[in-house]
Formats: sequence, structure tokens, C-alpha cells
Amino acid sequence: MRPAARLTLAWPLPAVAAWTSAWALQILLGHAGLGPRTAALLACLLPLVFLPGTDSRMRQVCLLLGYPVMLLGGLLAGLLPAWVWLLPLGLLLLLYPRAAWRDAPLYPTPAAAFDELARQLPLPPDARILDAGCGLGDGLRALKRAYPLARLEGIEASRPLSWIARLRCRGARIERGDLWAADWRGIDLVYLFQRPESMPEALAKAQAELAPGAWLLSLAFPLPGQRADLRMPAGGHTLYAYRAPFRPASVRPQTRGLQRPPEGG
Ligand SMILES: C[S@@+](CC[C@H](N)C(=O)[O-])C[C@H]1O[C@@H](n2cnc3c(N)ncnc32)[C@H](O)[C@@H]1O
Repeated sequence: MRPAARLTLAWPLPAVAAWTSAWALQILLGHAGLGPRTAALLACLLPLVFLPGTDSRMRQVCLLLGYPVMLLGGLLAGLLPAWVWLLPLGLLLLLYPRAAWRDAPLYPTPAAAFDELARQLPLPPDARILDAGCGLGDGLRALKRAYPLARLEGIEASRPLSWIARLRCRGARIERGDLWAADWRGIDLVYLFQRPESMPEALAKAQAELAPGAWLLSLAFPLPGQRADLRMPAGGHTLYAYRAPFRPASVRPQTRGLQRPPEGG
């Protein structure tokens, strides 16, 4: 018997579908004669049905809380002046400028994610390491545990996040800016924790700018069509490491003094 195919929708479609169906259900239950509170409560539960098609914990929380938050907003709407509704939008724009929208939102690297890394991927003590999209600095802190003497740099699109990262990572050079506009030449290791959709652009940039021998590390998302020189578990994800010049996945690996990754990386 063939296994049943599971329908997975691309984010944010599950959230839009969940909230729209919750809204439709609340209207239907209201017309069917249910009290407004019971109808609202049942509608708030409906997004649970959409959880299995949603992959990350953060998205599941958004999916579940979105509709109750909308209902709360509706209740408050009559009580607060209209301009108050611009405050969260302003805050969101400050936290996440438009440049960051098409890449990953904030999702910190776990503190001990790279504790095994230096053993598998040794670097010279004064190597230059860049966390491209450094958020609150968690990736840089994890990298410092692995390479305590390295010269750490970070670039972050969000001004408030870059301020906090600077406070948390004394000694690292952190700039506010666009990781795609930043110069990766001269960097010995670029670390990325972005989105699968960002990986083709990351590959093109790394191929154009990284010197032979330099590394691109990506947490959770592999470079499309490239053979990883190293693959290892890191903080509940897989860490993919590629050494320039990169090799297409179809090319047989040569021994480069590193553990060979399993096929398909
Ligand atoms: C998944 S978080 C990773 C944060 C950090 N690297 C870590 O591992 O803890 C992705 C970060 O990249 C930032 N970001 C997204 N697009 C960016 C861009 N184009 N330029 C700079 N930073 C960006 C986001 O604001 C967010 O802080």
C-alpha cells in the first residue's frame, strides 16, 4: 500500500489558512446560535489542525497565537486611539528593516553548538571569522568558544540587534549593514544561519569572494548542489561546512585532511 501523501504548504500559507478558517468558523458558529465567547474559543482552537504542516517551533507559536491576538486587537480597537496601532509596526520596522525581511528572522545559534567544531575544522589562531547576519551575537559567542583567539566580526541588518550584539560580544567588530553587500574577501570563515531560500545567493557570493582555503559554514541549510567537506550535528541542527573552491555534489570527494561527509551533502 502506498503511504498517504502529506500536503505541506509553504510558509506563511499555513498561518493564513489557519486564521482565515478560524474566522470563518467563528462566523458560522455565531450564525448557528452559539454564544460569542464559545464561538470565539472554538475558533481559537481550530489552528491546532494546521500544526502538523508547520515545521519550526517559532512558526507554530505564530500560527497558534495569531488568531487570539487578532481577537484581542479587535476588542482593544474601540478603546485605544487609532495611532497606537502604528507603534507595533514602527517597532517591527526598527527591529527588522526591510533588508532583513527576505532572509531569516532572529533565531539564535545555541551556545554550545560549535564546541566540537575546532577539532574537526582547525583554523589558524588569528583567523578572521564573520557571522553574516549576527542577530544578538549568539553565533559569535558560540564561535568564540570554538576559536577563542580568532578575530570575530559580525554584520546585522537590524540596528537594535547590532547594538545588543556589540554589548554581548566585546572584542568582536560588529557593523550594522546588509550581509549581501558586505565584502567577504579576506575572511577565513563565513558563518551563516539564514533560510533555505538564501542559499543560492550565498553560494554565488561565496564562490565570487572567498579565497581558496576559506570556509563557508551554514547551520541547518546546505548549499544547493555542493558537496560539503564536513557535516556534523550542531545545537540540534546539522552544520554544513564547505571549503573554497567548492565542488559540485556530483564530483567524487578527495581527501582534504578532513572527515568525509556522508553521501548527498
Ligand atoms: C537566524 S538569525 C541568526 C543570528 C545569528 N547569526 C546567530 O546564529 O545567533 C538571522 C539573522 O540574520 C539577520 N539578517 C537577515 N537578513 C540580513 C541581511 N540581508 N543582512 C544582515 N543581516 C540579516 C536577521 O536580522 C537575523 O538577526
